[in-house]
Amino acid sequence: MSDLTQDSDAGVIGTGTHLSNLPTVDPSAEPSAEVPVDGSARLSNLPARDTPDPSAPPIRVVNLRKSFGELEVLKGINLTVERREVVCVIGPSGSGKSTLLRSVNMLEPPTSGEVLIEGINMCDPDVNLDLVRARIGMVFQQFNLFPHMTVLRNVTIAQQKVLKRSKAEAERVAAEMLARVGLTEKLDVHPSQLSGGQQQRVAIARSLAMNPDMMLFDEPTSALDPELVGEVLEVMRDLAKSGMTMMVVTHEMGFAREVGTRLIFMDDGVVIEEGDPREVLANPQQARTQSFLSKVL
Ligand SMILES: Nc1ncnc2c1ncn2[C@@H]1O[C@H](COP(=O)(O)OP(=O)(O)OP(=O)(O)O)[C@@H](O)[C@H]1O
Ligand SMILES: [Mg+2]
Repeated sequence: MSDLTQDSDAGVIGTGTHLSNLPTVDPSAEPSAEVPVDGSARLSNLPARDTPDPSAPPIRVVNLRKSFGELEVLKGINLTVERREVVCVIGPSGSGKSTLLRSVNMLEPPTSGEVLIEGINMCDPDVNLDLVRARIGMVFQQFNLFPHMTVLRNVTIAQQKVLKRSKAEAERVAAEMLARVGLTEKLDVHPSQLSGGQQQRVAIARSLAMNPDMMLFDEPTSALDPELVGEVLEVMRDLAKSGMTMMVVTHEMGFAREVGTRLIFMDDGVVIEEGDPREVLANPQQARTQSFLSKVL
């Protein structure tokens, strides 16, 4: 097993994809207007398309269902994330938030329904999943850094192995990204010498070094001591300000209120309510949302 596949991000970064071969976007590609907007139609009849469509939303989920054995955990999710949006997802434990996020890059293949990334149908067997996944950064609750490697090496390894960047180029990008998350001083230390907040910032820098078009976060601050949460949220806030498209599963309602462009409340595998975070948090319309928020706010 290569060292990359020890990492639970392996499905995202450890794929051996040669991005230098990425096709350029064809401006004459079919417009996304042909994709129905009501989320009701099946999209599998669309022709296979490996090139991202710049006019298509970064993330589109259509009638997504997912079962584990008898247990149906996603019961028909429809969701579109537009460019530069920061969509925050909240909901009780077991409601399917992580499964939804993992479905977006096919870490969980759907039981039915479809996922389109920049117009590319991820369920199409002809699509090169590795190529598409390489444009989706993912940050988990657990940081999954390699303990035996320095911070710098943690941020360069996938760039070199997956993107085939030279060592010098990978180190240049790593230094830039580590500066962006405020860790310029820590290039040569090992993860065990860092706080949890610093480790998570390294994990974010590692994702950013891959030049993702969008970032998925699954409770990135839940494993952190309370005093370390702020520094990670700060990095995420800056990322949002820079225009990154983000989908964030979080319990941090302050972050959702301040940074989120949309808030989605999920319960029992369905989207119960969504809207402007400030409105949903201040004035939830559905009884289940009200009940959940009364416990967490
Ligand atoms: N690989 C799996 N095999 C079987 N069941 C699973 C699997 N992954 C998730 N589940 C089940 O699916 C349901 C939804 O899980 P999921 O992790 O998506 O919830 P969540 O909303 O992220 O919860 P939490 O807030 O605790 O992280 C749960 O009942 C969980 O036990
Ligand atoms: Mg979860």
